[in-house]
Amino acid sequence: MTSNYSFPPGFVWGTATAAAQIEGATTEDNKSPSIWDTFAAKPGTTKDGLNPEVACDHYHLYKDDVALMAKLGIRHYRFSLAWTRLIPDGTGEINQAGFDYYNNLIDELIANDITPWCTFYHWDLPQVLEDKGGWRERSILDAFSSYAKIVVSTFGDRVKNWFTLNEIPGFIGHGYKLGLHAPGAKESSQVVNQAFHHAMVCHGIAVKTVRDLGGPDARVGLVHNPEIIVPFIETPEHIEAAKAVFAQINEHTLAPIYSGKYPDSYLERCGADAPRFTEEEMELISQPMDFLGLNVYRGHFVRVGADNKPEVLPLPKAFPRAEADWLNHVPQAMYWGLRFCHELYNPNEMLIAENGVGYHDAPGMPTTQEVIHGWTHPERDYDSEILDTHRCQYLRTYLQSVHRAIEEGIPLTGYFLWSLIDNFEWADGYTSRFGIVHTDFKTQRRTPKLSASWYSEVIRHNAVL
Ligand code: BGC
Repeated sequence: MTSNYSFPPGFVWGTATAAAQIEGATTEDNKSPSIWDTFAAKPGTTKDGLNPEVACDHYHLYKDDVALMAKLGIRHYRFSLAWTRLIPDGTGEINQAGFDYYNNLIDELIANDITPWCTFYHWDLPQVLEDKGGWRERSILDAFSSYAKIVVSTFGDRVKNWFTLNEIPGFIGHGYKLGLHAPGAKESSQVVNQAFHHAMVCHGIAVKTVRDLGGPDARVGLVHNPEIIVPFIETPEHIEAAKAVFAQINEHTLAPIYSGKYPDSYLERCGADAPRFTEEEMELISQPMDFLGLNVYRGHFVRVGADNKPEVLPLPKAFPRAEADWLNHVPQAMYWGLRFCHELYNPNEMLIAENGVGYHDAPGMPTTQEVIHGWTHPERDYDSEILDTHRCQYLRTYLQSVHRAIEEGIPLTGYFLWSLIDNFEWADGYTSRFGIVHTDFKTQRRTPKLSASWYSEVIRHNAVL
């Protein structure tokens, strides 16, 4: 077997999920409602009015899902904890059933030789805390701190890799500014900026908690979703223009983490709406991380414009994209995202914490030329297979771009494919499927797609195939 795209030995190949997207069982065993349970129950918030109540029923089927991962050769798994299962009131008393569930899940993973990578927070804030102001209020810091402490002291004997918060600009922007995600709020800029700052401090609290209670071998980092700017033409002047835009649009998250300060340009832009913060909070935010996790899905092109200023190029309708239509197919985003983060902030290690693509996959997807030309095998039952060649094609090109970054010495050590199984895709309900394993939401039957066999081989050969 030869591939020009071999990866370094020990490269981490994994898959990723989040509690609210897969677990279901939203009212079982004392779990309290999260903001996503409440939001999705309101008319007009999610596609077809669907909600996370059952999702993939992973709460009951986790053993099967872990066995499936083991069968596919997946050795690393990123999942998130539902705060609402562990501390239903947000603060105070713990719910033993929630701890039992995650203890069992973690034990099952380890028994199957799968390393757990645990995310503290992937968007499912307890509704009781939202009722007290949620991310808007400073009180969230104490609540998060107690949650983080109990989580690390309980699971830290077995979980050695921690992700703090998933996509801070994403859940604050969509949830508190645009009203498109839970809790569906449209707050003033001042409130949004303050909520963002509170989430940043909670990231810091999570890092400190892992340091204090996670043991000497515990590692921790943020999951960030930078908007990735790609030089349309790879010449020094366009690269510089792209880098300047990248630095500017992502500065409010990464700069404070790596320098301990909100950049002056950000604070000036915010003006009177700038977040209020203390020195102590900035110190928490900027504690050294072991790695930076990046979620990479799409990219935007920049060139040097006519006035010599960077210009973001609009993408025509016909530009390749997923059925999740925000998702432009720009594989170079991997390389440029990693390279710009490396050059601007120099993290000692980076991981791709999510990459994947959403389509409306279903068994028996109509094919094109093969059918027309009669190339298909007459005895084959294509209806029972999910031939997501389009997903494989997307993933392959993104991984080639990851490879380029590694070849150039950028310290990238792992890749988590989003997602293991089709799941609750937030406001898009269940139409946009990101899994390499198909979920039949009526029967809960799992069917690995072609992409699952392909990814399995990628892992086995440690190379893009
Ligand atoms: C989120 C996932 C989501 C995926 C696809 C990411 O930004 O972390 O929860 O399913 O995008 O939309």
